[in-house]
This record gives sequence, C-alpha cells and structure tokens, in this order.
Amino acid sequence: MFILNAPVEKSIELENKIYLLQVRCPEITSDVRPGQFLNVRVSESMYPLLRRPFSVCDVDDEHLYLMFNILGEGTKILARKHKDETIDIIGPLGNGFNLEGEFDTAVIVAGGLGAAPFPFFTRMIKDHKKILTFIGGRSHKDIITYGMQNISIATEDGSLGLKGNVIHLLQQNLEQLKSNRIKIFSCGPTGMLRALKDFTIKNNFDCEVSTECAMACGFGICQGCPIESTEHPDKYHLVCKDGPVFNVKDVLL
Ligand SMILES: Cc1cc2nc3c(=O)[nH]c(=O)nc-3n(C[C@H](O)[C@H](O)[C@H](O)COP(=O)(O)OP(=O)(O)OC[C@H]3O[C@@H](n4cnc5c(N)ncnc54)[C@H](O)[C@@H]3O)c2cc1C
Ligand code: FES
Repeated sequence: MFILNAPVEKSIELENKIYLLQVRCPEITSDVRPGQFLNVRVSESMYPLLRRPFSVCDVDDEHLYLMFNILGEGTKILARKHKDETIDIIGPLGNGFNLEGEFDTAVIVAGGLGAAPFPFFTRMIKDHKKILTFIGGRSHKDIITYGMQNISIATEDGSLGLKGNVIHLLQQNLEQLKSNRIKIFSCGPTGMLRALKDFTIKNNFDCEVSTECAMACGFGICQGCPIESTEHPDKYHLVCKDGPVFNVKDVLL
C-alpha cells in the first residue's frame, strides 16, 4: 500500500457528467488487481476532509484510470482537475475480484457507474476466459460501455436494449448462461446486487459482488465501513479491508 501524490495527466468527459481521470503512478501499476480501489484526497484544503474511494477502472504501464460521475462536492472538485495538478492517493486497497477458478465464462453484471472496475477486469481476463457483459440503467444516458466486450443492455425506460432491468436481461439469457461454466462478477446499486443475489442462489451460480459504502480510512483502522455477514447475526466484515468484493452468499445486502 502506497501513499503518494500522483500527477493528473488527462481528464476527459466520457458521457454527460461521467469522467475518466488518468493519473501517473508507476509505483503501483504492477501491484493493482481488478476490483481494488484507491482512497483519494481530492483537495489540498481541509474540505472535503475525508478521502473518497474509487475503483481502479484501468491500468497501463505508468498510469491508473478512474471513472466517476459527479455526485457531490468531492467528485465536483475531482472533475475540475487539470493536467499537472496532483491528487493524493492511498492504494491499492481492498481485495479485488478472484479471477481464478473452475469457470470458462466470466459474466459481468454492471449497473450504472458499477461499470467502473470492469475495463481493467475485461482486459485482464479476456485471454483466459470468455466474457459476457450485461449492463443495466434507468435510461440510455446511464449506460456506460467504455472498455467492455460482448455487451447486452437493459434500460428501465426502454430507451436502449431490453425494456426492464438487468435481472430481466439475465433471465432472458438463462439458457445461454446455464450452457456455460460461468462465474458472475458484479458491481452496482445495492438494490440490483440484492436482486442478483436471489437470482444467483436460485440458479446456483457462483457470484462475486463489489459493494459500496461511505468510508473514512480505507484500510481497516477506523471500523467505519461494516457490512453484515450471513455467517453469524452479529458478525461484520469491513468493506475496505475484507472487501469491497465478497462472495454474494457471505454478506447481507
Ligand atoms: C470501494 C468503493 C469504490 C467506488 N468506486 C467508485 C467509482 O469507481 N466511481 C464512482 O463514481 N464512484 C465510486 N464509488 C463511490 C464514490 O466513492 C462516491 O461517489 C464519492 O465518494 C462521492 O463523493 P462526493 O464528495 O462527490 O459526494 P458526497 O457529497 O460524499 O455524496 C453525494 C451523494 O452521494 C452519496 N454517496 C456518497 N458515497 C456513496 C457511495 N459510496 N455509494 C453510494 N452513494 C454514495 C451520498 O449519500 C450523497 O447522497 C466507490 C465507493 C466505494 C466504497
Ligand atoms: S474505512 Fe476505515 S475501516 Fe473501513
């Protein structure tokens, strides 16, 4: 784990209010795994005080890429970063997805900005496994396909792809899913992850989900990011240290 000042090289607006930030960070590019995240101090001033966590969207030899949308003050400041400004990052943090195992097809299920970790994931896994990608959003404006492959889309208002949610899309493709040895990898809103959990348990699919919650330290010190374990009623995992990726059966969503 490193704490360092990384110079911003580029910030581009991919879609309306969705940004891709390229930072130079050769110290850690070879250590990062898909699904891991960085805890970013977006400003040199005291405000906002807490760092903001972002998945590593992609990596090349010298750079890390973050994808984010503007939600509040932190992401607004981040979106205004220019070339040669620096951001203070801690990372790589968290466990990341487990890409090994007895499956031949990686099934990505992403909701909205839950797409963020999957360009890196897709690049790392595509030489070893087949990929099927299912993306859901409220409308075509919420669909992010950057860096993904073999994509099927569902929108709730029917403006792109299947009219419905991403679980309807999986249901529609159930035969194809069942004819492969699949493992599902997902990131998105908690409601979607909860519905996905029911779907995967019912159909006996192995599934890892990347979970989100507000964070402070990002590496297990403050105890501020608990997620309830299914193992024991009063047992908690820490999203930052034990996650953010969990087997869907291990956590209460
Ligand atoms: C492990 C992890 C990885 C993440 N990866 C990404 C990523 O790759 N791209 C991305 O855009 N976002 C990601 N997030 C969410 C991101 O951290 C928040 O969007 C960001 O902190 C918002 O900061 P802000 O100051 O702009 O908004 P704030 O002012 O802090 O919040 C604005 C609004 O967003 C809500 N919010 C804040 N944090 C979260 C959150 N974690 N989940 C859901 N709602 C939230 C708040 O409740 C509030 O309503 C990730 C979160 C975690 C825990
Ligand atoms: S954010 Fe501090 S323990 Fe997880």
